[in-house]
Amino acid sequence: MCGIFGYIGDKDPLKTCLAGLEQLEYRGYDSTGIAGIAEGAISTYKEAGKLSLLKQKINLSRLDLAIGHTRWATHGKVTYENAHPHLDSSQSIALVHNGIIENYDSLREELKSRGIPFLSETDSEVIVQLISSHYQGNLVDAVYKTLPLLKGAFAIALIHKDHPDQIVAAARESPLAIAYNDDCTESLISSDQNAFLGTSLNVLFLMGDEIALIQKGAIHIFDQALQPVEKKTERFKNDYKAPSKEGFAHFMRKEISEQPQTIQKAFDGRFTPDFEPIGISLEELKSMRHIWILGCGTSAHAGHIGAMYFEDLVKIPSSCDIASEARYRDPILGPDTLVIALSQSGETADTLAALREAKKQGCRILGICNVQNSTLTRETDGSIFLKAGPEVSVCSTKAFTSQLAVLNLLALHLSHIRGRLSPALAVHYVDKLKQIPSHIQQVLDQAADIERLAQKYAAYEDFFFMGRRYMFPTAQEAALKLKEISYVNANGCPAGELKHGPLALINPSFPVVAFCANIRTQEKILSNLMEVKARGGPILAFAPQGLNAVADVADDVFWLPPTIDELSPFASAIAGQLLAYFIAKERGCDIDQPRNLAKSVTVE
Ligand code: F6R
Repeated sequence: MCGIFGYIGDKDPLKTCLAGLEQLEYRGYDSTGIAGIAEGAISTYKEAGKLSLLKQKINLSRLDLAIGHTRWATHGKVTYENAHPHLDSSQSIALVHNGIIENYDSLREELKSRGIPFLSETDSEVIVQLISSHYQGNLVDAVYKTLPLLKGAFAIALIHKDHPDQIVAAARESPLAIAYNDDCTESLISSDQNAFLGTSLNVLFLMGDEIALIQKGAIHIFDQALQPVEKKTERFKNDYKAPSKEGFAHFMRKEISEQPQTIQKAFDGRFTPDFEPIGISLEELKSMRHIWILGCGTSAHAGHIGAMYFEDLVKIPSSCDIASEARYRDPILGPDTLVIALSQSGETADTLAALREAKKQGCRILGICNVQNSTLTRETDGSIFLKAGPEVSVCSTKAFTSQLAVLNLLALHLSHIRGRLSPALAVHYVDKLKQIPSHIQQVLDQAADIERLAQKYAAYEDFFFMGRRYMFPTAQEAALKLKEISYVNANGCPAGELKHGPLALINPSFPVVAFCANIRTQEKILSNLMEVKARGGPILAFAPQGLNAVADVADDVFWLPPTIDELSPFASAIAGQLLAYFIAKERGCDIDQPRNLAKSVTVE
């Protein structure tokens, strides 16, 4: 992951870089650092901690230019030495890096055998030492000679003490945006163009080992053969508003509470037959014979539910794969496969890699994404935006339910255009769908009850979250929420699978959280609850009002507004999010920025 930001221009480079890094902290917050040039020497400021720590300690002397970094550790622990920027052994070059150099070990051994010392455990330090070993007065040339030696995906930015008027950058597969303004007073680089604040800029993206020489208001791009290339630029204006918790203690709590509105936004303009244009023609959509959904983490959980929508409503074979696995499979795909790439951020490396593989096989690719101008939206044939607004908390909440809303409406739309949707079903289904925001509100209004349950269950170290059919991915999603922000061992399990092994773990200190809202499998889940109870496992059930038998078995029940099976994941997901939130709060965890994680996962 990691975020890179750089600035050269009339404004204060250090302050501008710090402001840029603040926008990029979602990409990693293990450590942070900035390097610049002052009076012909490299100055660096680093902290093995969040940006707020660096800001407290940094000496704000004027720099000629600056590059900065927020790190999500891959190679080497979270230490001052491993924080970026990294310097070469002559202290002439400073470099920041996002990505992974796969052959770093052999390169490092080779450099060490030439007497070059290493201060960090990172793969990134190898790059700066290699560039230094090729440097003969021209930084672009040194980068050009180094790139073919590197295996892996990366974006880098670097400065040299003898060139206080230039930043050099290069990228392979990792995103790097470069921008300059019209009056040539400033140039910027960033891992994410949405970190360019305020001004109208001309933006371009580096790719395929391109190298950029960035000067004040001027950018020169060179291709793999070091030939100058003309890149198309896009106009970009960021109407950025600083995110606010709006009175909530955490962004996660605020984002959970926004869901009645964000779902409404996801619905807007998407009720068939008026589904907005998605960049793939109706004829093509009609001719698809298979739907393949890709995603990671929470997006994959939404994808598994989405695949059920397409099978249940469109009657088309559909499946969802975790993108990090999908990219190394050889699935049977073709022009009649519609690939749907689901991603809140639109930057998840595995999802992007998997869709590129599918593209090679001639599939049409539809992106469903929350971030405009993301890599995903640039690489897909068509896009649907979630319109959920910025999701700041690392733990994804509102994006998940917006993904479900969009997948529902897309399934209805495909069903309609393929002649599968009866008017009666359409009316019934849409009616139920329109009730969802108010169902969510009902759960939110009972947050205090979930908080009380969370207080009761917060001390347990292990949980199973179980469910059947629509409730299985919902249970997996709720377990993911709990484990990522509370550091509790919580695993999602299909309820019917318990007796095939996991049941061995159940005892009075191993509770089960049961998601019971899938009516078609109601009796089955009740039997599964009995099996847990017989082994002494405490049971917390999330059950639809009316399913009174649950109360006879479970220790605690939180009642949900009843709906049809397809739509049961919404209210259940909110209950799961609140449970995780309140348990994490009870355990005193860093809820918005949990340890070891980042909001955008841009490494494989
Ligand atoms: C969990 C979470 C992650 C993301 C995953 C994919 O709360 O946020 O599991 O869902 O990293 O991210 P996107 O959706 O941005 O591709």
